[in-house]
Amino acid sequence: MNYNKVAELYYTRRQNQQRFDYNRDIEVPAMIKLVGKVKNKIILDVACGFGDHVQILSKNGAKKIIGFDISRKLIKYAQQSKIPNTEFLVGNMDSKFPFKDKTFDVVICSLALHYTANLDKLFAQVYRVLKSKGIFVYSTGHPIFNMINSSPQHIIEAVKIGTKKIIYGDYFNESFQKGDLGTLGWMNLRNFTYQTLIKTALKHNFEIVDYVDAKPIPCSRKYDSQKYLLTIKLPSFILFKLRKK
Ligand SMILES: C[S@@+](CC[C@H](N)C(=O)[O-])C[C@H]1O[C@@H](n2cnc3c(N)ncnc32)[C@H](O)[C@@H]1O
Repeated sequence: MNYNKVAELYYTRRQNQQRFDYNRDIEVPAMIKLVGKVKNKIILDVACGFGDHVQILSKNGAKKIIGFDISRKLIKYAQQSKIPNTEFLVGNMDSKFPFKDKTFDVVICSLALHYTANLDKLFAQVYRVLKSKGIFVYSTGHPIFNMINSSPQHIIEAVKIGTKKIIYGDYFNESFQKGDLGTLGWMNLRNFTYQTLIKTALKHNFEIVDYVDAKPIPCSRKYDSQKYLLTIKLPSFILFKLRKK
């Protein structure tokens, strides 16, 4: 999976106010709201992309925000934005994070969990770098949206043929598969079951403090009423808010 190849398109299309954007119109507002007050907080953004969330968290008064991402090009965009109180690094969420234990008040990870090779290791790293009672908020693809409205490989259907039902797809398949990301093209990503997401959080000693089925912001209807009406009824993303015990 390589966002370097699509970095420019990924960056510019998010700025395009004429089109409905799943990140800008659904995920970013939901994430910022769920994170809540950040005044004087030290925050880590795992797989931060070009720093869209970081920009808002900085404006909202965070004391310091560090973002890292595997895409050099996206990190360059983030650095060029010159957001106050921030630092951006190239880094891999599947490796040991280059930070000391108990450094951050808040860790966020927006729409990147589905690219990890090792969910357990990622949760262990987040836990390690969070302070006691620190907050981890992440978003990922909605299992129900993925089951009925994503790429053919992910869609699950029970088709009746005569007296038999044929089942296509597999909710429990968490292996990497090609996913259709629209104008960005096809990328390798995986879908996790609710069971995996909840049990992984509990296993790593997090408590679940909130959960959101994300909906688009009302003003996005004017960009594309079809996508708006789809995602207001069929949520495309889920967000979990966890607290380190
Ligand atoms: C859908 S984008 C989300 C970017 C950003 N969080 C946002 O919401 O604007 C997924 C991001 O995950 C990054 N990514 C994928 N695999 C990664 C890895 N192993 N380590 C760090 N970042 C990774 C990509 O480069 C990309 O920026």
